[in-house]
Amino acid sequence: MEFLDTLKNRHSVRAFAPTPVPEDVLERLLQQAALSPSWSNTHPYRIAVATGDVLESLRTELYARFQETIKLQRGGKLAQIKGLITRNKGIPDGDVKPVVNYPKDLQARRVECGKGLYGVLGVARNDLKARDQAMAENFRLFGAPAAAFVFVHEGVGIYSALDAGIFLQSLMLAATNEGLGTCAQGALGLFRSPLDKHFDIPKQYKLLCGVAIGYELDVPVNKFQPEKIAASELMLPTRR
Ligand SMILES: Cc1cc2nc3c(=O)[nH]c(=O)nc-3n(C[C@H](O)[C@H](O)[C@H](O)COP(=O)(O)O)c2cc1C
Repeated sequence: MEFLDTLKNRHSVRAFAPTPVPEDVLERLLQQAALSPSWSNTHPYRIAVATGDVLESLRTELYARFQETIKLQRGGKLAQIKGLITRNKGIPDGDVKPVVNYPKDLQARRVECGKGLYGVLGVARNDLKARDQAMAENFRLFGAPAAAFVFVHEGVGIYSALDAGIFLQSLMLAATNEGLGTCAQGALGLFRSPLDKHFDIPKQYKLLCGVAIGYELDVPVNKFQPEKIAASELMLPTRR
């Protein structure tokens, strides 16, 4: 694919076919993503790739745990306190604190994106149950046959996330180039312990996010195209 086509064709896929991604294809994507630059060439991140039985086990556990999270969230303060005391499985044990209150200046784009997504999914704004269910699909990896979980080295602060982000974009572009779909998923940062069961993760590496990888289904949710930002909106004005 031409570079510009690859860049434009990459989009978030939220419904995958179960068709497995051949191992050599996955290896190629990771090798191409590893061409990414990083601070002092240190690559301060590690990737846990899950397919087959490991992914199925993760899918089951992550989804079940998020269902518990929903119960706690919808159960109010008392349920949450009780959950904390009883070490309920729905209490997130991720390394990175999720953003609960979005900054006001980012809120408009976030709401617009959510509206668009729920719109194509046919989820009404006030239908909490359907919204929870849509969110829960993150933890089933949207049915993807492969996933990569991204861990960043805590010793270099936010620079590890910067380098991991560059890697992630390279990985997603490499996947697009191979005719594969992807969805970067911050949601997958919520639970760490299920990953510790399957991977040997050094203590200094903290779970940041995940990315689902697979073949895209031809369904409306995958046609959702949130409006891209104009470069001019990103540019800071000069002082006069
Ligand atoms: C770091 C990161 C985390 C994301 N987390 C999620 C997520 O948890 N669930 C989800 O459905 N989409 C997630 N997305 C996808 C964004 O919503 C998507 O990239 C954005 O709306 C732009 O759409 P596009 O990817 O189709 O261009 C994430 C994207 C990034 C880059």
